[in-house]
Amino acid sequence: MLNKAKGFPENFMWGGATAANQLEGAYNLDGKGLSTSDMAPFVPKEERDGADFTFDVDSKQLEEYLGEDCQVYFPKRQGIDFYHRYKEDIALFAEMGFNVFRLSIAWPRIFPTGEESEPNEAGLAFYDKVFDELRKYNIEPLVTISHYEMPLALTEKYNGWESRELIDLYLKFANTLFDRYKDKVKYWITFNEMNMMLTSLYTGGGILEDKIKSSKEQAAYQATHHQFVASALAVKSGREKMPNAKIGCMICRLETYAATCKPEDVLQTLREDQMNLFYPEVQVRGEYPFYMERYFAENDIVIHKEPGDDAILKNNTVDFIAFSYYMTYLGKYDPTNKDNSGCLVSQLKNPHLELSEWGWPIDPTGLRIALNRLYDRYHVPLFIVENGLGAIDVLEEDGRVHDDYRIDYLQKHIAQMKEAIQDGVDLIGYTTWGPIDIISCSTSEMSKRYGFIYVDQDDEGKGSLTRYRKDSFYWYKKVIESNGEILE
Ligand code: BG6
Repeated sequence: MLNKAKGFPENFMWGGATAANQLEGAYNLDGKGLSTSDMAPFVPKEERDGADFTFDVDSKQLEEYLGEDCQVYFPKRQGIDFYHRYKEDIALFAEMGFNVFRLSIAWPRIFPTGEESEPNEAGLAFYDKVFDELRKYNIEPLVTISHYEMPLALTEKYNGWESRELIDLYLKFANTLFDRYKDKVKYWITFNEMNMMLTSLYTGGGILEDKIKSSKEQAAYQATHHQFVASALAVKSGREKMPNAKIGCMICRLETYAATCKPEDVLQTLREDQMNLFYPEVQVRGEYPFYMERYFAENDIVIHKEPGDDAILKNNTVDFIAFSYYMTYLGKYDPTNKDNSGCLVSQLKNPHLELSEWGWPIDPTGLRIALNRLYDRYHVPLFIVENGLGAIDVLEEDGRVHDDYRIDYLQKHIAQMKEAIQDGVDLIGYTTWGPIDIISCSTSEMSKRYGFIYVDQDDEGKGSLTRYRKDSFYWYKKVIESNGEILE
């Protein structure tokens, strides 16, 4: 019989999610090497609203950015100075009642160029301190091994994940983390949003588009194959070194509705869905799905596999699916469009949904649909590791931020999570994106804020960096305290 009262499980994980390159700062301290993300300039609104906006970097820009007289401001280099303020920030997370905190490790902090034979001890020691601080408050770390950054030297030498050499270099990095933190970290994610490689080669794979040796799509899928193998090998050695660990994959879930009931639009939507589910197909089921074969053949894509790759993928599947969810998309057949970016770059707007200030459709019901669809298909635990509203916040004179719009957004999404749990979905945790304001991934803006904690810093990096509790801080605290029962 249906248990109507079924709410969040007792051991449900509540917290927030971040990425090293968007909050740590200290980009050149204690032996850290340059990262691909250190080269992401601030993009003003006028530019990001342009039709051809891309946050990829090409080799000409890279040369300019590395020049001694470069005047460009790179916000991710200073982040919000979590590197020096992690104790204060973690204390605030603890005050809200977090029992999980998602963070990533900056690869060039551990291996500055990616190719050293020994890791940088100062880098490892920093994360030891962060994990110890989390432990003090019984906050479980959820670690993303690679979140949209890598040593810049690997881009310069190998053109990033286009080269197979990256697999061994990543494994050396991952194994170093497993050996060092095996007693401190139980939950791991191998890569952030692997599917974003198709949209952004540089951010997803450290690849400079003007340096690729093939078509853009060929390079993206080949690089993805390298990441699949690297991820599976990390799962294998992670399991050997840490039998109790839980290791997951992660996608940006692009829940897509057919724009009309015209069969061609429905078929197009199915195709786009398959392209998004390609990633968990390989990482959960352990093999390339049938539909990719035809797609590759018709688009002149040839995946170069080494003997043994298929067995590696088959034998080392993940324990859970982590995903980000911000919005839903519309699928519409367009015979003139050969671009595979599909719904992600589509300009179609769903008339039933309101938009955020950044034009992202707000769709709480879509989250319930996403949860059901993923669980229905894979039957493995799900973890929502990103969700939230990027908005302009105003700091009042009394130090308060009245972000009722954020509370409203999160409230509605959490209510749908609860519905999905009642539907029978095995949802194990929820980490909202950017629980403290951090630098935006796509545009390096500071003014696109997701946090419960306001950070006094503007888009030009000016401000005291003082932290303030927003109204949503007190609200989320109550949600966690009541294990999701009180959403008002
Ligand atoms: C996700 C990324 O896709 O979206 C995060 O994993 C990112 O790194 C988040 O910050 C929100 O995007 P943005 O551009 O608003 O920061």
